[in-house]
Amino acid sequence: MMPDLSVEIAGIRMRNPVMTASGTFGYGPEYADLVDLNELGAVVVKGICLNPTKGNPTPRTAETASGLLNAIGLPGPGVEGFVRDYMPFLRRYDVPVIVNIWGKTVEEYAEVAARLDRVPGIAGLEVNVSCPNIKEGSAMFGTDLLMFERVVTAIRAATKLPLIPKLAPNVADIGEFARCAEASGADAISLINSFPGMAVDIRTRGFKLANKTGGLTGPAIKPIALRLVWLAAKAVRIPVIGMGGIVTAQDALEFMMVGARAVAVGTATFVNPDTAIQVIQGIRDFFVEQGIRTVYEWVGSLRDE
Ligand SMILES: Cc1cc2nc3c(=O)[nH]c(=O)nc-3n(C[C@H](O)[C@H](O)[C@H](O)COP(=O)(O)O)c2cc1C
Repeated sequence: MMPDLSVEIAGIRMRNPVMTASGTFGYGPEYADLVDLNELGAVVVKGICLNPTKGNPTPRTAETASGLLNAIGLPGPGVEGFVRDYMPFLRRYDVPVIVNIWGKTVEEYAEVAARLDRVPGIAGLEVNVSCPNIKEGSAMFGTDLLMFERVVTAIRAATKLPLIPKLAPNVADIGEFARCAEASGADAISLINSFPGMAVDIRTRGFKLANKTGGLTGPAIKPIALRLVWLAAKAVRIPVIGMGGIVTAQDALEFMMVGARAVAVGTATFVNPDTAIQVIQGIRDFFVEQGIRTVYEWVGSLRDE
């Protein structure tokens, strides 16, 4: 019997538990010739804020051991530009579209959420409170509990869409942030965002990124992400979306086993655009091999006495 891979997250029904990680899959059209979007669990688009933004100067990326350091700085078309230029395309597909949002102030976050509230075809909002690459705002929303609570509460009041705050990894107690999200009205949480880092060049004696510091992603952060997802999932009842260094179905199955109901594939998509599809197929094969009938049977099945 074929296993049932479908899951529900925050009221969003997905045909399988594998989504794209924000910022690594553009807004959808960039990958549509390479990947059938309808095969994905959900498409999570690059972060959107109120007005069009340029992002950081180049170089914006540097490779590190088993990882990628980036300081893209959230360039984007702004909320109106996104709705006008990308939503008509995304509406042609039968896949949930989750819009990742960010702002420089609490009011800006709430305004972006309010403007997306009634746009047809948007399944939910993921809130980036944890981008380490912009000078003002975002980073402190993810690491200061009071600011985090304010921003989640304000967005909750501004929209009826499913709300998924994305937690920062560089906090002392991830459970505290997970519980705060739940208490402030979040329908699910996702984690982890990139981990702050930097790279330097001994020949030029300079920084490898124009922004000096950036966010580390890819396999290098997987053990960090796995621990934080495990801790966060134990702290709350709302569903958890796990990510950080997922390359294979085994990686995804590990995140789900420690408590994630769904996962996102990010940096690995830059190496092979087809990664998410291969991860879905690998999960299906493993479930067949193990006689597992549904995703729910597997989620949180870690032996953790
Ligand atoms: C180039 C790049 C851009 C990203 N942009 C965003 C973004 O706009 N919003 C966001 O919440 N996360 C963003 N992220 C973080 C990813 O969504 C994800 O949380 C992180 O990369 C960890 O997953 P991975 O190791 O599979 O890449 C970005 C990551 C990368 C590599």
